[in-house]
Formats: sequence, structure tokens, C-alpha cells
Amino acid sequence: MSRQVASRTVRVDLEQRAYDVIVGHEIRAEIGPRIREIVGPDRRILLVIDDALPNSISEPALDSLARAGFHVTTARAKADEEHKSLEQTGNLLIAAANARLGRDDLVVALGGGVVGDVAGFVAATYRRGIGVIQCPTTLLSMVDASVGGKTGVNLTLEDGSTLKNAVGAFHQPRLVLADTQTLSTLSERNLRCGLAECIKHTLLCADEGLLERTEDNIDGLLSLEPEITVDLVARNVAVKARVVAADEREHDPTGGRALLNLGHTFAHAIETLPHLSPDAHRENAPLRHGEAVALGVLAACRCALELGTCSQDLVDRVTRMVSRAGLPVQIAGMPGDDALIDRMQHDKKTLGGKLRIVVPETGSRCRLMTNPDPKVLQIAWASIRA
Ligand SMILES: NC(=O)c1ccc[n+]([C@@H]2O[C@H](COP(=O)([O-])OP(=O)(O)OC[C@H]3O[C@@H](n4cnc5c(N)ncnc54)[C@H](O)[C@@H]3O)[C@@H](O)[C@H]2O)c1
Repeated sequence: MSRQVASRTVRVDLEQRAYDVIVGHEIRAEIGPRIREIVGPDRRILLVIDDALPNSISEPALDSLARAGFHVTTARAKADEEHKSLEQTGNLLIAAANARLGRDDLVVALGGGVVGDVAGFVAATYRRGIGVIQCPTTLLSMVDASVGGKTGVNLTLEDGSTLKNAVGAFHQPRLVLADTQTLSTLSERNLRCGLAECIKHTLLCADEGLLERTEDNIDGLLSLEPEITVDLVARNVAVKARVVAADEREHDPTGGRALLNLGHTFAHAIETLPHLSPDAHRENAPLRHGEAVALGVLAACRCALELGTCSQDLVDRVTRMVSRAGLPVQIAGMPGDDALIDRMQHDKKTLGGKLRIVVPETGSRCRLMTNPDPKVLQIAWASIRA
């Protein structure tokens, strides 16, 4: 028998573009009535379903939409970085046109971050923008990708190289519905990767006790204990929602939305290196994004320790959380410091040739630093080198 767990609602406060994020356990069958409350009946919907999802996840959502009176067309989408492409976007745009979606109709994305980003971009561009509903099914997409309105795809250049998220649009969803029960079919490695973003969030709101709560409940989250999972997902969504509401388009020069990149400048320097493995097994290479972020957050903490903005105690606590989450705390096989710092300089978040990193501050949030001393960066890289 399924357990009753109270759902939680987090508001993303963006004035006329404000929306709710509903987090609950086994709530996917509520999707039809929830959308109906927002847009009324008789709309057409293109339901974009992550190819990897079992029918036990997609069918209740589809039935719920149909029973609520929507005219639903389904499209399956492949969820990997290779298919986060203009080609898949084009196919879905054609599917939307074939389904005769009009300006008042909707795209509903059911899947992880890849499907959410592609389907969101389809909604942002079809007929110059129609509504999108995000129904995330990975931990990462629940706590991060589905909230905040960034949509987009990768761009493959003539020489075969890929620019990640190079084409996209800001397009806030009308509603986000996160059913944590869908996480039960997610691979353990993907679940752990989502936890890396949760650990990052604990440092963006140390003032709210999320750090302590995450420390206490990591095991419950990894075993998908329903109440703990709903609670932690909702609290993480609240962190992202607050940051996005304060700086929707990442314009705040003092930090704002850019603080969400904590650990990412380090992570981007290592996640595209094909030979790096999170453990001793070569077949697990390359690193997944979450694994690189976990290492990046630790490197950023080490920088902060060096700069005196955070304590050894905070570094130790974050290291213990990363380790308990089953994510790497050190890694073998990285290039030398100079090569890594050079890769950081070429990160797309670099502004006007200046390297920017986010560093934690004890008892507060995080701070943006421009052009940190290379010696500090070397110490940080050394701290995660096995
Ligand atoms: N828009 C944003 O603000 C934002 C933020 C962070 C990340 N992202 C993007 O999100 C993407 C990563 O998202 P992700 O970590 O969710 O990975 P993903 O979408 O690649 O999904 C990971 C794998 O899990 C499968 N899957 C999804 N849900 C499942 C389920 N419930 N059961 C079984 N399998 C399932 C997918 O098919 C895929 O194979 C990246 O492309 C990244 O750029 C976007």
C-alpha cells in the first residue's frame, strides 16, 4: 500500500510569470486537474516523454491529462547529451505542428533535465512561445533543472565539437509537478549525482539549517524514504526559487543567480576529460556532471578556507556529506594545475576574460570572486587530487 505523504508547494515569485512547484509522493495522476486549474479545459497538449521512463510512470500522467479533458499527443524523446540537439528540437516542433497546437496550448515535459531543457526550448520557440509544464523525474531535474526557466540545447560545430547549452531561451514554466515516487526507477548513480546539487544548495543557505537537515537525512534520501525525499526536494527547490526570483536573468554583478554556479567552474574543467573515472573502474569514465560538481564544490570550499571565508569545520562537514552520498572526494588522473587553471579560464561563465569563482562563507551564503590568486587555485586542485 502506498503511504500518504503531504505534498509541498513552493512559489517561484516572478510577478506575472510566477508559478508553483508542487512536490509530492505519487502525485503524477494529479497532473490533469492541476493543469486544468491554470489553463482551463479544451487545450491541446504535446506530452514529451523521456524514452527511458517505464509505462508505470508515463501512463498515469497520460490518463490523468486525458481524463481532465485535454487532447493529448505523445512524443518520445531521447535523453542524452547527444540528443540534446537542434535535430531533436526540430522533430518535436514538427510533432507540435502535426498535433495542431495553437498559441494557448501546452507542452508538458515528463523526464530528466535533458527532456525538460529540450521540451522547454520547443515551447519557448513554437509560435514564438507557448506554455510549458515541467514534470521532472530525476533528482537533479527536481531540485535544479526544472525550476528557473533556463531551456536550451547543445550545438555541434563543423569540427565535431559540441558547445553545451549554446542555443536556448529563458522560458519559465507555468507549473512544475515533481513526483518523488518516479525516482524509484532512476539508476543509483543518477540519484547520487542529483545529491551533488543538493549539497551545493546547503552552502547557498547555511543560514536556514538546510546543511544540518541534509546531513541528518542523506541516507533517507538515498533510500528514497518518501517523507524525507519530499521534504528535502521541496527545501532545495525553495533555495533555487529564491535565487531565481531575486535575479531571473543572471544580471546581478554581485552574485545573484551566478552563485548557483558554486563548484561549476572547477567541474567544467574536468567533466569533459574522457578518461576520468569517479572510482578505480575505468569503465565508469567519464565523470557525470554531478560527480564533477561534488569535486568542484570541495575545491571551492578549499579555496574559501585558504581565503579565510570559511572554516575547516565547514570543509570537513561538506567532505563527509559528499562521501556519504557516494560521490568522489578525490580523483586520480587529472592534468597538471596549469592545464586545469587554463581550462577554467575558458569556461563559458568567464566574464570579459576574468575568471570568476563562487566561494562559500561560513554562516552565510556564498560570494563571487573575480580573478582568484592562482596559488589558491593550485591548493584547491591539490586538495581533490588522489
Ligand atoms: N535548465 C537548467 O537550469 C538546468 C540546470 C541543471 C542541469 N540542466 C541540464 O540537465 C541535464 C541533466 O539532467 P539529468 O541529470 O536529469 O539527466 P538526464 O535528463 O540525462 O537523465 C539521466 C538518465 O536518466 C533517465 N531517466 C530520467 N528519469 C528517469 C526515471 N525516473 N527512471 C529511470 N530513468 C530515468 C534518462 O532517460 C537518462 O538516461 C543536462 O543536460 C544539464 O545541462 C539544466
